[in-house]
Amino acid sequence: MDFSFNKQINRKNTRAVKWDLVKTLYGAEDVLPMWVADMDFQTPPAVTQALTERAKHGIFGYTFTDNALQDTITNWLSYKHDWDVKSSSIVYSPGVIVTLHMAMQTFTEVGDKVLIQTPVYPPFYDIIKKHDRELVKNQLVLDGDKYKIDFKDFENQLKQGVKAFILCNPHNPIGRVWTETELAEIVALCKQYNVLILSDEIHADLVFAPNKHIPIAKLDPSMTDNIITCMSPTKTFNLAGLQVSYAIVNDKQKREALEKTFHKQGLHILNTMGITALEAAYLEGKDWLVKLMEQLEENMNYVINQFANRKDVNVFKAEGTYLLWFDFRALNLSQEQLKIFLEKEAKVGLNDGASFGEEGTGFMRMNIACPLELVKDGTNRIISALDRRDSNK
Ligand SMILES: Cc1ncc(COP(=O)(O)O)c(C=O)c1O
Repeated sequence: MDFSFNKQINRKNTRAVKWDLVKTLYGAEDVLPMWVADMDFQTPPAVTQALTERAKHGIFGYTFTDNALQDTITNWLSYKHDWDVKSSSIVYSPGVIVTLHMAMQTFTEVGDKVLIQTPVYPPFYDIIKKHDRELVKNQLVLDGDKYKIDFKDFENQLKQGVKAFILCNPHNPIGRVWTETELAEIVALCKQYNVLILSDEIHADLVFAPNKHIPIAKLDPSMTDNIITCMSPTKTFNLAGLQVSYAIVNDKQKREALEKTFHKQGLHILNTMGITALEAAYLEGKDWLVKLMEQLEENMNYVINQFANRKDVNVFKAEGTYLLWFDFRALNLSQEQLKIFLEKEAKVGLNDGASFGEEGTGFMRMNIACPLELVKDGTNRIISALDRRDSNK
């Protein structure tokens, strides 16, 4: 079946954050938006069809979740990640960020130390700071062309009395998919220092072979109860606006405590259309996802090849996610100058690397989940601007 990953669909005037806020954010309409993490591809046809059928029904009252929905999720986790989870361990949530906020409230106290690995997805900072917890960093280190975990520093941070660690796997923005060895070391250290792991695995389904996503809660049965895994079909199937996600919480006490917090905040009912979309995506989206990954790989390889021989820019090959991390440090520009160069000279709207933490200074993030023609356009805009800059020197 042709899923039309090359069809350019006009998203303007749909209140699309990526396309309709271009002028507000980048100052001009002719900037090509390659930033916020959603895709310019249509969701699988089966999902659109299920939503259309549901919409035609015309009644959108309160909707509950049932055993069939739980089974759909556990079957997906088993199919995709070879992970057997108990149906009862599912806690629904409108979004992964919501779950992390709820978990922060439930399992940590004001002043508690919470660890993140930087550079990382900006809301992680907010989740810690807004609840008056103390942010502790384990900076990821660049070893040649690859980011690695400095485990010595990781342990040193845990030793200072860290209460919880927010893992990002696959890691946004650097695109690493942590290996079994790396995850096993994380688990062992968190076990040794009794640290709760909040594992954000929203990009889990978007992994390029031969890399493999391993849910961290799978690794050591004696730690499973101390891990909360956040997952969702929204990145995988481009459903972010429908706000549907779930957490896997194996430990009954923790699950009840987390559910209580959701109830206290009035956040215990899911969006009707979100439920419909999740179900259709997980039941009928498998072939579409295979084709999506082929398209994303082609897009990524295109960008990497175009920049391969340049000394002024380095693009990291992503092991997972549809986000590419660009190192522009060789240009010797301040972050403000780099942003102006990309927005005004290249006319591309990327994510500011520094928004992922100070370690991201000199870097930018590009979203390649769009038709290849747009990826080529964005890439060529940057290369032409760099060439013009060189010839003006
Ligand atoms: C690592 C990570 N976690 C969470 C989210 C957002 O999840 P949600 O929309 O379910 O809150 C994103 C979106 O880009 C993300 O990259």
